[in-house]
Amino acid sequence: MLSVKYTANGKLKLIIKKGDRTDMKILVTGAAGFIGSNFVFHMLEAHPDYDIVGLDALTYAGNLETLAPVIDEPHFKFVKADITDAATIDQLFAEEKFDIVVNFAAESHVDRSIEDPGLFLRTNILGTQVLMDASLKYGVKRFHQVGTDEVYGDLPLDRPDLFFVETMPLTASSPYSASKASADLLAMAYHRTFGLPVTISRCSNNYGPYQFPEKLIPLMIANATADKPLPVYGEGLNVRDWLYVEDHCRAIDLVIHDGRVGEVYNIGGHNEKANIEVVKIILEQLGKPESLITYVTDRKGHDQRYAIDPTKIHNELGWLPETKFEDGIRKTIQWYIDNEDWWKNIISGEYQQYYEKMYGNR
Ligand code: NAD
Ligand code: DAU
Repeated sequence: MLSVKYTANGKLKLIIKKGDRTDMKILVTGAAGFIGSNFVFHMLEAHPDYDIVGLDALTYAGNLETLAPVIDEPHFKFVKADITDAATIDQLFAEEKFDIVVNFAAESHVDRSIEDPGLFLRTNILGTQVLMDASLKYGVKRFHQVGTDEVYGDLPLDRPDLFFVETMPLTASSPYSASKASADLLAMAYHRTFGLPVTISRCSNNYGPYQFPEKLIPLMIANATADKPLPVYGEGLNVRDWLYVEDHCRAIDLVIHDGRVGEVYNIGGHNEKANIEVVKIILEQLGKPESLITYVTDRKGHDQRYAIDPTKIHNELGWLPETKFEDGIRKTIQWYIDNEDWWKNIISGEYQQYYEKMYGNR
């Protein structure tokens, strides 16, 4: 592995560990989604000699436009495929001989999982199994499962002293979190039973460029921009722990290279905010009135508070978040202002029907 370290006098030092390769081939599934695409951008920049294959089924959440900046890069290739399609996945693994697999592909929206749990179980659990079977068969050296903090359930609002740690038992509130917890358990079972070299990361809420406008931050930016009501669930007091997407990508890069096989790493930056605080920050930055806030019926089973303890990844791998929320949210709002075409295309199509169904009579 090639890494850059600063020496005591502040000079750059390049380190190549003996025996490490600089020409890995990495499969990134869910590459046309929010975090997967940001991870592809990060990896192409951080590891210019690696070959990255980005796979995506291009569901409603996947957008090939997002990968336009890298689609012609010689070290990048896009494959349209479904991770539940075992025959296609097997053939791809046979041809490509991946060193590392990073599985972002998933149905990721909690509200949609309440409408259609079956799809979440198929993609998030069975899709992970298909990828792990192929990884075992073709000798993949690291299978990384991108997990979520939602597998720890939630924390009460009146216990700010409590945080999620890796050793907590898994529990779940929504079909989405249940499917992600199942995938984590299955990944650990493949490690113990078959010896698959697995790592798992569990991250808190991400925000940043290319997030689908059904999620809190981009949805509120899009609605505020159009002077539409901002639908806040319940009283807006639920707390999420926000992390800028690039910080998440750097953390996964560290885990796949230097993380210990069979281990789980929590990722989060102690940046807890009540939803209503986030919404008010967005309105203030866009110069829009708080009268746009509309309190709507709460989400079923709504988790109260998420809060990650990232001590393990910090102590073992030296990871720390680099982007403060004030900077990250400013950059994110600016990105949505500068890239209106990207999200306006998305919300002009079938998303309108989704929006009407979810928010029409709320
Ligand atoms: P996203 O919905 O933006 O992207 C998911 C991608 O997976 C989409 O491009 C979609 O087309 C693709 N996909 C869906 N089903 C597929 C299938 N059967 N085969 C191939 N591709 C398929 O989601 P995201 O927010 O980028 O999340 C990515 C991963 O990170 C998910 O596993 C999610 O659980 C996890 N995660 C997300 C967050 C967050 O805050 N967004 C936090 C922690 C963990
Ligand atoms: O914690 C990690 C998880 O974060 C990921 O695993 C999920 O894939 C990702 O979607 C996210 O889940 P959340 O449910 O926390 O994110 P969402 O953006 O849907 O909602 C954030 C909070 O905002 C939550 O408390 C619900 C609330 N909310 C959401 C929407 C869409 C509203 O008040 N109004 C809304 O319209």
